[in-house]
Amino acid sequence: NLPIFILAIESSCDDTAAAVLKNDKILSNIVANQSIHNEYGGVVPELASRAHQQNIVPVIDMALRKANINKDQLDAIAFTQGPGLMGSLLVGSSFAKSLALALDIPLIAVNHMHAHILAHFIDEEGFDKPEFPFLALTISGGHTQIIQVNGFFDMKIIGETTDDAVGEAFDKSAKILGLPYPGGPLIDKYAQLGNPKAFPFTKPKVPGLDFSFSGLKTQILYFVQKNVALNPDFIAENRNDICASIQYTIVQILLDKLKLAVAQTGIHQIAIGGGVSANTGIRQAIKDGEKKYNWKSFIPKFEYTTDNAAMIGIAGYQKFLVHNFENAAVVSKARIEF
Ligand code: KG4
Ligand code: ZN
Repeated sequence: NLPIFILAIESSCDDTAAAVLKNDKILSNIVANQSIHNEYGGVVPELASRAHQQNIVPVIDMALRKANINKDQLDAIAFTQGPGLMGSLLVGSSFAKSLALALDIPLIAVNHMHAHILAHFIDEEGFDKPEFPFLALTISGGHTQIIQVNGFFDMKIIGETTDDAVGEAFDKSAKILGLPYPGGPLIDKYAQLGNPKAFPFTKPKVPGLDFSFSGLKTQILYFVQKNVALNPDFIAENRNDICASIQYTIVQILLDKLKLAVAQTGIHQIAIGGGVSANTGIRQAIKDGEKKYNWKSFIPKFEYTTDNAAMIGIAGYQKFLVHNFENAAVVSKARIEF
């Protein structure tokens, strides 16, 4: 059997990414971050699409060079169809279509949320692949979902957020503390130096497997405002403890729902994905679940958790194997059926 070479392109939000795969192995995985958004405290769609326009050719060029692959060796182009920002998605899909047409090779459309889950099937030394069925917790700036994964493209959402995503909960809490965007990684950094029980926050009461984070955000806002009124240096003096307490509460909210999902489905394999699964508190809690709750936990390599094209490539490879191709009329979708 000849190896399959796939070029994958991801441009759904504010990262321009390209990867080259040889079957289920990653030959290169390039991401260009857009620092332009930091000064605005969030992603500015107009600026994101413009930056994708600037970055896409050099990023793809670098991915091919690092993989030591000539474009004529490619067997297919995979791209992110959605969900995401329309102006960002269009840059990746237009480029993918044109290149597939020029090279006369198949075009593969990938659902970004499927890809976060399928990242677990990348062949990587020291990382096991889950077996079907398993439970996936996808946690990012845009999503918070528990998914029952029965097959590569047979997935069912069994729980999700009713308001903010968990990444937003991190980023908005960070903003309240005066930290720059995206604040999630900074909360994580300071949390490692603080006491998680210093400031107890209450967990929201949400039925079933669904989540809610907007109440927690308001609770943190009032807590900070009240204390800063008493002591203007409250944040500076307690930064690590506040961050540790916020992170601890968020981790407990996620853990509670995962335990319930395991009880309801009888499935003990837990895989995490999405940008927030880079969080050290969450990674530790999921890992500890192996001993505490008899889980088998799957935690991807860091570079495959935040937005990347390697995950688009592995999803594309699975579609290639079943010849699930698109014609050039395929459209980007800001929202997409799971
Ligand atoms: O998956 P991702 O890269 O993009 C989306 O599709 O949203 O996730 C980005 C989110 C941001 O909210 C960011 O603050 C959060 O992931 N994040 C973290 C950490 N690293 C990234 N949140 C908490 N702790 C981290 N270490
Ligand atoms: Zn993502």
